[in-house]
Amino acid sequence: MDRTPVWFMRQAGRYLPEYRELRGTRDILETCRTPDLAVEITLQPLRRMPLDAAIVFSDIMVPLAAVGVGVRIEPGTGPVIDDPIRDAAGVARLRALEPETDEPYLLETIGLLRKELDVPLIGFAGAPFTLASYLVEGGPSRDHARAKALMHGEPETWAALMGSLAAIVRSHARAQIDAGADAVQVFDSWVGALDPADYERFVLPWMRPIFEAIDVPSIHFGVGTGELLALMRRAGGDVIGVDWRTPLDVAWERVGPDAAVQGNLDPAVVTASWGAIEPKARDVLARAGGRDGHVFNLGHGVLPETPVEHLQRLVELVHTETERPNT
Ligand code: CP3
Repeated sequence: MDRTPVWFMRQAGRYLPEYRELRGTRDILETCRTPDLAVEITLQPLRRMPLDAAIVFSDIMVPLAAVGVGVRIEPGTGPVIDDPIRDAAGVARLRALEPETDEPYLLETIGLLRKELDVPLIGFAGAPFTLASYLVEGGPSRDHARAKALMHGEPETWAALMGSLAAIVRSHARAQIDAGADAVQVFDSWVGALDPADYERFVLPWMRPIFEAIDVPSIHFGVGTGELLALMRRAGGDVIGVDWRTPLDVAWERVGPDAAVQGNLDPAVVTASWGAIEPKARDVLARAGGRDGHVFNLGHGVLPETPVEHLQRLVELVHTETERPNT
C-alpha cells in the first residue's frame, strides 16, 4: 500500500525532553559540529514516531561559520553576525566553501546516519536570500530593510553577494549528497518578504543553478510565499514547501500539477487540543485529495511548546487516512 509520507520541519528540537537533556547548555553550532551528538539528535524523533524521513541535525548558518563568518546563535533570538556585510568590501571577504576541509563533521554525521537509517535522509541548506538577510542585517529582522536597501541601492553589490552565497550553497548541497543525503531541502525562510517582481530580479537567477546542481529529489521552502509559489517552482525544486497561509489546493494550482507539494498545517494549531488539531489536519489531507505528490508537514517548524503526543497522533492520522493501493 502507498500512503502520504510525513515528516516535520524542526522534528529534532526543544519540544523533545530528550533533546533538551542532551543539548543542556551546549551551544547549538557546537552541537552541530559534534557528529555523535548530531547523529543522536537526528534519530530522537524517529524513536518516538514512525516518520517517513530524517533531517540531518545542522543549521543554515553552519556553512557560513565554516568559511569563517563570525556568527553565534542566541537562544530565543536566532543568528547574530559579529561583522555584518554592508558593502562591496564586505562581500569580497566572503570566501568559497570547501566542504571536505571546512565542514568535515557534517559529512561524517551524514555518513553515520546513512548507515543507521531505514528512511530517507534529508540534507539542507539556507537559500542565498535568507542567508544574505542575516549577513546584511546582522541578525533576525522583521522588515529586512537593510537587505532591501542594499538590493535596490547597490544592485551590483547585491548580485556579488548572491553569487558568492549561491556558490557556497551549491557546494554545501553537493557535498551532503555525496556523503549520503537522499534529498535536499532549500530553506528560503524569509523570501516571502519580497514582492514577485523583486523575487524575479534579485533572487530567482541565483536559485536555478542551485537546483540544477542537486541531482536527488529537492524541496524548495519559504514562509509567506503565497504570491511567489509559481516563481519558486520556476526557480527549481521537485517539491514546493507551502506555509499554512495558502490553502494547499490553491498552492498546488499555483505550482502546477507536475510539481509535488509539502505542507501545510499551522504549527501553532498543533499546540492546541487534539479535538482542534484533527479537523485542521483532515482539511489539509482533503485539499491534497489523496493525490500522489503530497508530503505532509507543518507550514513551518515545530514550536517548542508542542506536546509530543500531538505529533505522534498526527503521524498516525496521516498514515491511516491516506492508505491507498500502489499506483
Ligand atoms: O529537525 C530539524 O528540522 C533539523 C534542524 C534544523 C536546525 N536549524 C537546528 C536548530 C534546521 C532545519 C534548521 C534550519 C534553520 N536555522 C532555518 C530555516 C528553517 C526555518 O525555521 O525557517 C533558520 C532560519 C535557522 C536559523 C536559526 N537557528 C533560528 C532562527 C534559530 C532559532 C533561535 C531560537 O532559539 O529561537 C536557530 C536555532 C536552532 N537551530 C534550533 C534548532 C533545533 C533551536 C534552538 C535550540 O534548540 O536551542
